[in-house]
This record gives sequence, C-alpha cells and structure tokens, in this order.
Amino acid sequence: MVELRAIRADEWDEALGLWEEVFGVGQWLFDSLHQSTTDRSWEHARVAVEDGRIVAAADVFLRQVRDEDGVPQLMGGIGSVATRPEARRKGYSRALLNQIIERMAIDGCKWSMLFTGSFDHYAPLGWKRIALPGADAQLKNQEFTTDSTVVRLGDPWPFTEMGQLYDSFNGQRPLTGIRTDLIWSIAIKVRLEQPERFCLGRVVDRSLKGYLVATKGNRGFDLEEMAVQPGDTETVSVLLQGFASLIKEDWIDKFSSQLPTDPTLDGPLAEICERLDRVGSPWTMVRPVDPSWTDARLDALFKKPEAVFYSLDKF
Ligand SMILES: CC(C)(COP(=O)(O)OP(=O)(O)OC[C@H]1O[C@@H](n2cnc3c(N)ncnc32)[C@H](O)[C@@H]1OP(=O)(O)O)[C@@H](O)C(=O)NCCC(=O)NCCS
Repeated sequence: MVELRAIRADEWDEALGLWEEVFGVGQWLFDSLHQSTTDRSWEHARVAVEDGRIVAAADVFLRQVRDEDGVPQLMGGIGSVATRPEARRKGYSRALLNQIIERMAIDGCKWSMLFTGSFDHYAPLGWKRIALPGADAQLKNQEFTTDSTVVRLGDPWPFTEMGQLYDSFNGQRPLTGIRTDLIWSIAIKVRLEQPERFCLGRVVDRSLKGYLVATKGNRGFDLEEMAVQPGDTETVSVLLQGFASLIKEDWIDKFSSQLPTDPTLDGPLAEICERLDRVGSPWTMVRPVDPSWTDARLDALFKKPEAVFYSLDKF
C-alpha cells in the first residue's frame, strides 16, 4: 500500500535524510529553503509512503519573483524531487508533482520553475526548457589591482546594507526574487558560507557601497551576483578589479558571468574583459500555472536582456 500525500511535521527529519541520501548533498540545502519560506505549509512537501516509510518526495517553495514589468508575482520553485532507488518507476514522483501542480494553483502561483538535468521527467507534466541568461568572459591581458576599500565580507554579514543595495539595484529587474529578512538570514546566509563561495564588498567611510558574489568551482570562477546603487560605475569597476586580481592569482583568465545586461555594469565589465560572449545556461524548466500566464509570456520574460535569476535564490 502506498500513500501519496502531504508530509506530516514529524516526518520532516526522515525526508531530510532521504534527500541527503539521494542527492549526496547536506541537509542544510533542503532545510534552509523550508525554514526561510514565509507562509510555508506542510501541504507544499509531498511524500510517497510505503509501509510507514517515505520512499519518494517532492517540494515546492513559494517565492515572489518580478515579472516583465518588475512587479512581484508568486512563483512555485520546485525542488527536492527524489525517489529511493528501490521505489523508482512506479509513478510516485510524477504523482507527487501532479499534486504540487494542484497545490500551486490553490496557492495562487502564476508560474513555476525548476533546475534539473532530468528534462524528460518533467516535460510530460508541462514544464519546458528555457535558457537562463549568462556569459563567458575572458579577461584582458593586463595587471589588476585590489583597491584598499575592497574587503571580504563574512559573518557577521551586513545583510541590512546588502539587502538595501540588492533592492535598489534590482527594484524593477525582471526575474529577480524578492528577498525577505528571513530569506537573507537563512537561505542566503548558508549559501554565502559554502566554502567555494566568496563575497567582496567595497566599504567607504564605513558604508557598504556595493558587493559581489562569486564561486571558485572545479570548472573555474563564476561571477554570480553584484549590487550597487544604480549608476555607481566606480564601485562596479573597483569590485571587478578586485575580482579579476583574485582570478589572476590562480593563473586563470576566464570566468563565467551570470550578471544581467545593465548600464551600470556593462561599461566596467567591458573595461576588464577582452571578450564577453552571451550564452544561456541550459538547466532550467518553466511552466505556467495561472491561465493568464503562457509559455510565450515566460519566454519573453527570460529573453529580457536585463533579466536575471540569481544563483543564491535557487532551490
Ligand atoms: C528522477 C526521479 C525523481 C524519478 O522518480 P520516479 O518515482 O522513478 O519517477 P516516476 O516513476 O514517476 O517516473 C519515472 C519513469 O517510470 C515510468 N513508470 C511509471 N509508473 C510505472 C510502472 N508502474 N511501471 C513501469 N514504469 C513506470 C514513468 O513512465 C517514467 O518513465 P519515462 O521517464 O520513460 O517516462 C528518480 O529517478 C530520482 O530520484 N533520481 C535521482 C534524483 C533526481 O534526479 N531528481 C530529479 C532531478 S532534480
């Protein structure tokens, strides 16, 4: 007998164990999304239970994401989709995803997004592949210097100032997520503190003028996020110089960028880059939920040059 239903509060730790086993990733990843979601309901996490044991699970995290006009709209971020190997190919996962689709409609989600390599699992349920904007960059062959105003940010994190910069820079920007204090202090914090990630800030007269987030992974450096007051190209330049000098310390001259096309960023980026080739990242799928949202509308939203969905908001 199998039950396909909402998780019960006392089953959360068991589900965390399942996700850790199936994905080989620490429980913090799944738990931080759960803990940082306002209006979280146990109805959002769905499980397949065989003889009292959770064998499959899928989850949806509700987030406010800006539409093509910069207006926040409710989006259902699908994550934690996993079935224990011995319980696969019984239809559990797709049944749970169908329950989640119904749940997203009840909660008023306009659309849904997920990140995966298993495209065929979601395509029959209406999700379609879409490219997230990004770029491959090559640094100029020159020396870069780190200005004395550039510091590494860390615990205690200046989240109030970072949040203000994030909001000013992205206030109208399509595809960006609204970050509540809860999201900053739980989900963003734990992601910023992963060993491969670093955050540079520019501090002038004790005030944070801008910050940059990047990772150093197996495949090189990835510039994931930057926020300054709109128009502050000087701070962008100083931060990018600091980033470029860090890369050069590792004898690397290439990086990938997830930064959007933006008048404050484009000039300073061109100053440090020999080449910047716009390429889409292929791991995203989207699906309309509300009838007023269509595949065409989502397509247009993702194609906006100034749009970006930051890595720190992924689920
Ligand atoms: C991807 C994953 C979640 C699928 O879980 P699952 O419970 O096996 O999924 P389902 O049973 O709903 O569907 C899987 C396949 O079984 C088939 N199936 C469903 N019921 C079946 C049955 N009774 N007999 C035989 N096959 C069946 C489905 O048609 C589907 O086949 P298809 O992919 O060729 O269309 C699971 O393989 C997994 O945990 N993988 C590792 C983590 C992962 O990749 N997560 C998702 C990406 S983020």
